[in-house]
Amino acid sequence: MSDHAHDSHTGPIKTPAQLLWTSFFSFVAPIFIIIGLVYYVTSGDKPAAGAVDPELATAQRIQRVGTVVLGDAATIAAAMAASGAAPAADGAAAAAPTAALSGEALYNKACVACHAAGVAGAPKFGDKAAWGPRVGLGLEALTASVIKGKNAMPPKGGSTASDAEIQSAVEFILAAVK
Ligand code: HEC
Repeated sequence: MSDHAHDSHTGPIKTPAQLLWTSFFSFVAPIFIIIGLVYYVTSGDKPAAGAVDPELATAQRIQRVGTVVLGDAATIAAAMAASGAAPAADGAAAAAPTAALSGEALYNKACVACHAAGVAGAPKFGDKAAWGPRVGLGLEALTASVIKGKNAMPPKGGSTASDAEIQSAVEFILAAVK
């Protein structure tokens, strides 16, 4: 009987060393694994949800709806640079050196009012789901539709930009949903 009782208390752990290793792997190791995971999750510098460039996104959200600048093209370009609009850096600017607005500058001037927040059913800037079906129409067709106007969007988004400038603004919008 004493034999039977002894047998029933025998487990896989037979020596003090095994007991030590068992407690190490079941209590101590998981704690370090958890600390490691917490560190991994909190340390990465990931952008905030929905904001590829948080500073630009914030600036667009809080910017005034319109800006009036009087003067020649150079004055306007200087004012745009001073107000934080990115300097002309894309192909359109290179093709038209007479201070044509870059896509991003025109977007920030004439399109952001509706497209940043999705006013009046406008597809939101950077929203892949909203732009998805339109991207398939192609740059030409989208540019043409902005130039003509579409439903709540007035022709050229209400701006006086050239067709080439409109096209670079569309390129800028499309680049954000690639
Ligand atoms: C007054 C608000 C408003 C402004 C300003 C505006 N849009 Fe729009 N935009 C809209 C709306 C609303 C739609 C959706 C039209 C629809 O499909 O019914 C739209 C749609 C578009 C489309 C998709 C067109 C298509 O055929 O599906 C493009 C591209 C576009 N806008 C670019 C621009 C650009 C570039 C500017 C600046 C030059 C601009 N928008 C300014 C409201 C605006």
